[in-house]
Amino acid sequence: MAVKRTPFIAGNWKMNLDHLQSIAFVQKLAWALADAKHDFADAEVAVFPPFTDLRSVQTLVAADSLPIGYGAQDVSAHDSGAYTGEISGAFLKQLDCRYVIIGHSERRTLHAESDAEVNAKVKAAHRHGLVPVICVGETAEDLEAHGPSAVPVAQLRAALDGVDGSKGLVVAYEPVWAIGSGQAATPAQAEQVAAALRALLVELLGEEVAQSTRVLYGGSVKAANIASFLREPNVDGALVGGASLDIPEFASIVRFKKHVGA
Ligand code: 13P
Repeated sequence: MAVKRTPFIAGNWKMNLDHLQSIAFVQKLAWALADAKHDFADAEVAVFPPFTDLRSVQTLVAADSLPIGYGAQDVSAHDSGAYTGEISGAFLKQLDCRYVIIGHSERRTLHAESDAEVNAKVKAAHRHGLVPVICVGETAEDLEAHGPSAVPVAQLRAALDGVDGSKGLVVAYEPVWAIGSGQAATPAQAEQVAAALRALLVELLGEEVAQSTRVLYGGSVKAANIASFLREPNVDGALVGGASLDIPEFASIVRFKKHVGA
């Protein structure tokens, strides 16, 4: 069954750009994308700013009807209560977020986020009508010890335990060794893991959900390599870190069809 999945280019700003900077940035990004309107009609674009920017981004996107989606970089597993410093999915929904990144490797390592916590956050996102962008990926040591797919597949299996696939999800395969290193995976490596993740989606959520779910690659994506990833049958877009903070570069990634006749 051949299903057309709309390519998804997502910019994870991480802890960069305050709310004032976010307004100028999104405005300029919208102009850069408008220039490229023709090519970019084929891709969905979203940015993931820090929590404190979301209200500003919401206001700008709504006021100018910008064709840019947005979401948060994390969400609490809880809905409300005594959880100092956490942000409820209900609050994100109120800000018209469509997406939320869950289980980014920086949260797994720097905040010791467990697979069980990632799973609880995926369910929290669904409770509030948000689409989780579930991040999985192996470290260099995992790769050496277990090969390319074992750790990402195990992480996704845990993240999806008891999850209703009809509520929507995006999967992002981000090898930890490729993040911010300038050394991206090869397209063949990304495809191998993306195919294994899709096979798991078939097993857990059924063929229909698996075929309509976007599997992204992330880790040192830039304009020069995006087309090679998107040529792979199971790679449906990119989760972009550093290059998403450079407007011409990010706009060029969105215009991936221009590169090497993708
Ligand atoms: P870089 O694109 O900077 O390697 O970051 C990838 C990433 O972590 C996106 O979530």
